[in-house]
Amino acid sequence: MAAWYDQAIIYQVYPKSFKDSNGDGIGDLTGITEKLDYFTQLGVNTLWLNPIFRSPQVDNGYDVSDFYAIDPQLGTLADFKALIEAAHRRGLRIVLDMVLNHTSDQHPWFQGALQGPKNPYYNYYIWAHGADGQLPNNWGSFFGGSVWAQHPTVADRYYFHLFERRMPDLNWHNPQVRQEMTKVANYWADLGIDGLRLDAFIHLAKADLHQNYPSDGADPVVAEGMFANLPAVQPYLAEFVAGVKANHPDLFILGEAASATVNLAADYTRPAANMADAVISFRYFPTKPRAKRDAVPADYQPQRLDWLAFRQVMTDWQQTLLPPRRLTLYWGNHDMARVATRMGSHRYPQQSAKSLATLMYLQRGLPVLYYGDELGLSNGTLASLAAFGDPTVTAFANAAKAAGWSSERILENVNATHKLTARAPLPWSDDIGHGFSKVAPWLAVSQDGTPVSKQMADPDSVWHHYQQLFALKQTPLFTRGNWQLQNWAPWLYAYTRTLGVETALVVVNISDTRHTVTVPRAWAQAPVQQLTVGAVHQTAAELTLGPWSSAVLTIKKGSK
Ligand code: GLC
Ligand code: CA
Repeated sequence: MAAWYDQAIIYQVYPKSFKDSNGDGIGDLTGITEKLDYFTQLGVNTLWLNPIFRSPQVDNGYDVSDFYAIDPQLGTLADFKALIEAAHRRGLRIVLDMVLNHTSDQHPWFQGALQGPKNPYYNYYIWAHGADGQLPNNWGSFFGGSVWAQHPTVADRYYFHLFERRMPDLNWHNPQVRQEMTKVANYWADLGIDGLRLDAFIHLAKADLHQNYPSDGADPVVAEGMFANLPAVQPYLAEFVAGVKANHPDLFILGEAASATVNLAADYTRPAANMADAVISFRYFPTKPRAKRDAVPADYQPQRLDWLAFRQVMTDWQQTLLPPRRLTLYWGNHDMARVATRMGSHRYPQQSAKSLATLMYLQRGLPVLYYGDELGLSNGTLASLAAFGDPTVTAFANAAKAAGWSSERILENVNATHKLTARAPLPWSDDIGHGFSKVAPWLAVSQDGTPVSKQMADPDSVWHHYQQLFALKQTPLFTRGNWQLQNWAPWLYAYTRTLGVETALVVVNISDTRHTVTVPRAWAQAPVQQLTVGAVHQTAAELTLGPWSSAVLTIKKGSK
């Protein structure tokens, strides 16, 4: 059955960095409302907002202290209602980020739980005893260190946190927790939102806590096998989704499934299973193994995409998640460096920004565009390592220093890879504060890049390319057509989309060099070229593409 989100072109808004409407340096809901025409002009139809609920902002809103309140930095409930209404008037849908796995330590539930086992909220969280000052097990947190944090006053009592220590994990084994979270989702769905992006849902179930992860070292290890994609996640998710869709059948459920393989993604999006309508996996981007020259950990060193492996990954996803399952298509998000930094060409930044967009978003699946990528922005820069305020950066810097790296080299590597440098304020214009805010922004980051106003005035800009690309994406061929990889040359990423008698060939030169390839006869009949980037030439039997050039080729109806 067709759903509205089969046509979704999703734009990810990082609210704090999108537009500041009241001059405090923090982007806000009214800022988004003021800019709604921007989205319709660009041609997206769905906005996913990163978390907007009340939060101490330890993790930029992913640490929620009240699921029923808008964070005062971002606005009020009235602002939110105004945003929904104005968005819907323009045919724009709103997807909210919903954090299921944990709360802030400031949440009243956790404050209650700290009172001890007799408190009704104690079992909302995950507790364990350590013995003689030892941690309950050796599992490591995604944010560095152990998953266990000591109760502030009770010796040998620990709570579990997969992320920051001020973000205790909820105990989904407890049916009351599951009911509370379903209630929260219904509250926002009743207010008229169109979808939920389920943060970190693959972690809702944990293995038996009384076991260590096999390891030779003494340090905690990030033990995904103990807390990612366990079978119990699926009934939890199904129960939650059923509890919301019972009242809101059209609500779009977009799951964040960072480490899900394609087969798990197929499970989570099983038709009629009432789980996710689509998931975002972080497994799309296999990187080249690094030469092990020194002992510096890989985390904050740029990695190169392994294009051959990437073709195979895309093929697996395209062929496994067949309709009625849905795929997502994305190059980046708030948790990774920007695509221009990771994958763009230094010699051909504009062309690579455009061609990478064509390559990804014309495939079968729902585009999820990270704000600012429509401008071809690269990562911003923070002035010092301390500015990251991130213990994993400190650990990396220590290891790199020990291996003889200079401070400049360390900072350069972190700036090129850290998620914070992908969260810079959107440059709207060349005015003071880039038209984002009249005062210094919440994040002290410097950002190059051509602003929105200039790009909208320039028909050759990356922005205009996106606009044309999304218009094409809306056509049935690119929404519904089959996808087939065309493996003609290593420098060429090519695929066809087919729907009925219509076929289009998308060709992208993913290199800095001009190349020629012999093409099958069917494609040598003077096809129509669309969305051309750079230089694309066809002769009877050959196709020549300049560096980072790309095009969509179709055969004119009626020609043989
Ligand atoms: C998700 C978010 C990330 C956040 C984490 C904890 O992975 O995308 O930004 O830090 O969950 O909520
Ligand atoms: Ca503001």
